[in-house]
Amino acid sequence: MSDRPVVLSGIQPSGALHLGNYLGALRPWVLGQEEFRNFFCIVDLHALTQPQEPARLREQTRQLVALYLACGIDPERSTVFLQSHVAEHAELGWILTCLTPMGWLERMTQFKERARGQSAERVGTGVFVYPALMAADILLYQAAYVPVGEDQRQHLELTRDLAQRFNTRFGETFVVPQARIGQTGAGSRVMALDDPTVKMSKSATTEAGCVLLLDPPGTIRRKIMRAQTDSGAAVRAQEAQAGVANLLEIYRATTGAGLAEVAARFDGQGYGALKRAVAEAVIAALDPIQARYRQLMADEAALDRVLARGAAAARGVAATTLARVRDRVGLLPPDAGPGA
Ligand code: TYM
Repeated sequence: MSDRPVVLSGIQPSGALHLGNYLGALRPWVLGQEEFRNFFCIVDLHALTQPQEPARLREQTRQLVALYLACGIDPERSTVFLQSHVAEHAELGWILTCLTPMGWLERMTQFKERARGQSAERVGTGVFVYPALMAADILLYQAAYVPVGEDQRQHLELTRDLAQRFNTRFGETFVVPQARIGQTGAGSRVMALDDPTVKMSKSATTEAGCVLLLDPPGTIRRKIMRAQTDSGAAVRAQEAQAGVANLLEIYRATTGAGLAEVAARFDGQGYGALKRAVAEAVIAALDPIQARYRQLMADEAALDRVLARGAAAARGVAATTLARVRDRVGLLPPDAGPGA
């Protein structure tokens, strides 16, 4: 094992990935590949919190592996694996669920949003206990850092609280992880194009608000040209609000430009010019990813080999942590019986 700090993060295979997933998560992961010892998980068990059609889930999972690699995750340097291939996640998830007060889970904004307006007869329990499984994903690898978008901050706080609670009750066991949000520049909170008061999301109400990583250039242009702005006429980068601020943020994140550079380029220009520049910047950023994705999807066996190797590497680390946890909480080891 290297002595680089451990990073773990994951994305649910629950729908097509969008620009928010890329700018908030995948791109920062790629940029941190040299600096950290990385575990990048596809959190398929989390996807089961919502109803999934089995064949579709399988397809989306493979597509997500291909997208990880197409975005620049290098399986020679980073461990890429499926959560469900490493059974330790589910087991530690259960142990942590038992340690999590219901009140903590009831305060989770994501849970409140998902459950809102729905009868308790319809919302799966998984939606409620899911943050304890997410904590298990992170704590199994003793991750120091978790690069995520702004919307995951609260789940990270809960993970830290759980790690501390476990350590206090059973003795030092887990590294208490830190969220890494926005360290690599703009993009940690990309808003919907058609409604800049809500985040761009896989479960978004409309596709118009969401640039998908696999959208063709024409679609990207159309979505961005129709993005909601405001009644102003010209860009003023320092004071930009909502829709205009979001477009500037996307521009900065896809081109790497700083605030001053963006102001110098766009101040005084009309919103149409800004939108055209943003659309071209997004298309240029996604074009090589789409080309590589198509190549990778043509060889499913190769993707499966990446996953098999990733799972073997992840299991080694996860099993060590879980054995310690089992011992700490008082579960007998499987080989402790008579004649062992
Ligand atoms: P998920 O699958 O909803 O999103 C994956 C990642 O994309 C980021 N993201 C965004 N970033 C910026 N702007 C947006 N509009 C935007 N939308 C999504 C998310 O912050 C996330 O980093 N609970 C997690 C998955 C998870 C996980 C983990 C993450 C399960 N276990 C362990 C890290 C570590 C989720 O539902 O993300």
